[in-house]
Amino acid sequence: MKTEILKLLRESGDYVSGQQLCETLGVSRTAVWKAINQLKEAGYQVEAVRNRGYRIIDSPDVMTEEELKSLIGDETKWAGQNVCYYGEVDSTNLRAKQFGDEGAPGGTLVVADMQTAGRGRRGRGWDSPAGSSIYMSVLLRPKFRPDKAPMLTIVMAYSVARALRKCTGLDVLIKWPNDIVLNGKKIVGILTEMSTEIDYINHVVIGVGINVNLASFPEEIAEKATSLRIECGEVQKRAPIIVEIMKEFEQYYERFEQTEDLSFLQQPYNEMLVNCGREVSILGGKETYQAYALGINETGELLVRREDGSIEAVYAGEVSVRGVYGYV
Ligand code: BTN
Repeated sequence: MKTEILKLLRESGDYVSGQQLCETLGVSRTAVWKAINQLKEAGYQVEAVRNRGYRIIDSPDVMTEEELKSLIGDETKWAGQNVCYYGEVDSTNLRAKQFGDEGAPGGTLVVADMQTAGRGRRGRGWDSPAGSSIYMSVLLRPKFRPDKAPMLTIVMAYSVARALRKCTGLDVLIKWPNDIVLNGKKIVGILTEMSTEIDYINHVVIGVGINVNLASFPEEIAEKATSLRIECGEVQKRAPIIVEIMKEFEQYYERFEQTEDLSFLQQPYNEMLVNCGREVSILGGKETYQAYALGINETGELLVRREDGSIEAVYAGEVSVRGVYGYV
């Protein structure tokens, strides 16, 4: 009921009478009053004025089910329509995978305020302190073949970059294939994991970690990592960012599903690609070499021009790409 009340107050943007809330929700005045009090206890500023009703003035920086559901409303068809929030969890990717095994619907969104076993790429961890960042995972049930799934990381990276630009006005860029950077430092990491049989996908989980309100970083990573707050000097509310990501992602995922390739995204993605037109080091494949990055092709591989002039397509699963002088 708290979700419904938040939705009604937000939609109206003005006072909504107690009577109207009772009638719309089919509950008693006492029940409405109790729910409003619970919202106040959770940090919502709700004004109550005799003869006019209730009006929402401000919401806290929370990512609870009621906050996310009331903000998402029917802005999406499936992405984030089913939400699960944890104050503390081992890893949102692990929970989303578990929900996937248990039959949860595609688009299920798992969010946490803190992770005790956050997972990063290449078996690394992801530092996940409470109260300042976004840890979210989306469960997907694609019909396409397993070899297409890595392209979803590209779709998510592009969607997150667009959402962050919209919410903060910052000119974030994408570091191929799955980081978002600002001023040469990492602000977002993406981890895609999937459960497959030989020729079909059971489910895919895309996890996104965003440094939102961290005020500083330990010395050893301060040169490589930053947060939205450090970059724009303002604290950001996290739930609206998640909602924007869900809206963007649903739109681009559906486009991808139709064609099963990234031709439609190639140009706009490359315009946001920090590596584009730069010398990069390609590490960890058969050899380590330097090349000039040209942008992604229609299947999401990074096209690079080698010193001998030959063009090569680099596959994300095999290598990592660094700037010649550092991370970007
Ligand atoms: C990377 O190494 O850059 C990827 C980091 C991905 C971190 C996110 S946080 C939410 C989700 N849950 C996890 O355990 N990992 C991902």
